[in-house]
Amino acid sequence: MKTRAAVVYEPGKRLEIEELDLDGPRDGEVLVRYTHAGLCHSDLHVMHGDLEARLPMVLGHEGAGIVEETGRGVTRVQAGDHVVMSFIPNCGVCRYCATGRQSICDMGATILDGGLPGGRFPLTGPGGEYGAFCIVGSFSQYNVVHQNSVVKIDGDLPLDKAALVGCGVPTGWGSAVYTAGVQPGDTVAVIGVGGIGINAVQGARYAGAKNVVAIDPLENKREKAMEVGATHAFATADEATDVIADLTRGQMADSAILAVGVMSAEVVGAGFSMTGKDGVVVLTGLGPLMENTIVLPGSILTLFRKTVKGSLFGDCNPTYDIPKLLGLYQAGDLKLDELVTRTYRLDEVNEGYDDLLAGKNVRGVIVHEH
Ligand SMILES: NC(=O)c1ccc[n+]([C@@H]2O[C@H](COP(=O)([O-])OP(=O)(O)OC[C@H]3O[C@@H](n4cnc5c(N)ncnc54)[C@H](O)[C@@H]3O)[C@@H](O)[C@H]2O)c1
Ligand SMILES: [Zn+2]
Ligand SMILES: [Zn+2]
Repeated sequence: MKTRAAVVYEPGKRLEIEELDLDGPRDGEVLVRYTHAGLCHSDLHVMHGDLEARLPMVLGHEGAGIVEETGRGVTRVQAGDHVVMSFIPNCGVCRYCATGRQSICDMGATILDGGLPGGRFPLTGPGGEYGAFCIVGSFSQYNVVHQNSVVKIDGDLPLDKAALVGCGVPTGWGSAVYTAGVQPGDTVAVIGVGGIGINAVQGARYAGAKNVVAIDPLENKREKAMEVGATHAFATADEATDVIADLTRGQMADSAILAVGVMSAEVVGAGFSMTGKDGVVVLTGLGPLMENTIVLPGSILTLFRKTVKGSLFGDCNPTYDIPKLLGLYQAGDLKLDELVTRTYRLDEVNEGYDDLLAGKNVRGVIVHEH
């Protein structure tokens, strides 16, 4: 079948909308009709070459849709099921899945190649075989993915909101709840409140933090942070650090979650300075793959018993956390409607990323047409 998709051919170039051929689902694979896809900064890292991916690649890793067809041996879903995409697949049996660490499943090894197990590329076109970012490729109307990349959700949930629970929500919420391990009464700093950071704010608040200090140079982001649970918001890390010192009588924050668009040593240093003894600095934001973004005084880390931690997918277990987060949404304990600033058609995807870079969107969402 044919599908229209947004493709990156060369780093630094804009996305091209291309009509591609899509092979049908084989063993263990499912054909998904994507209804919605979120515009996450990670796709931009592929576009800009910060994350070196196999090209050409169809972007989009935050998404939701409806299963159209299943290949042989598919047991997790059937045609007609509504699904949220898991941007790291979960096989269920590797050492990480088997021990409750699905976000680092071994199947994640090929997310930058974008091929299915066995090196299969169901999307083809003028550029040969096309990968799908995170083996999802939600900037395509349709794609064939592995059943381990889909999580079935209740059919009555709005798919436009559910799409956010494919990346931004679990990554941010989990960075606070799981990676930082926020406890009731904690003081938590969140640096960078885009689609990821806004959910770290929500997670920290839900876990019972007393002070949730959001830091972002943009006023619209700070306002949104206050709307979904931040107790304080500042334009700069310096201002926030002074106030955190006052709020905690000099003990400083229990954790800092770093979710800026492009990670830097400066941001990591700011997060490190904001945290106190036994403080946890969580690196969720990404940057150029091989850049040294952690330049810290190690002896202070030792003497203050601090921890610097990476967080992928918010340390979530997608098959457990995606339905759980949607349940929190239904109960009113997690805000999703408020996170979508604007929707776009697929052929407006570059405009969507221009808006993201201009800081206009908390989250932009592509609404697919079929
Ligand atoms: N670890 C993971 O699993 C994972 C998953 C998804 C995204 N990410 C990464 O998380 C980061 C955030 O993604 P997003 O989609 O929310 O991006 P975004 O562009 O929507 O938001 C980034 C925010 O950071 C703010 N910002 C930039 N520099 C800042 C600074 N120095 N201090 C304070 N705020 C600053 C921007 O104003 C913006 O509001 C990206 O690097 C993305 O690649 C990581
Ligand atoms: Zn993402
Ligand atoms: Zn696994």
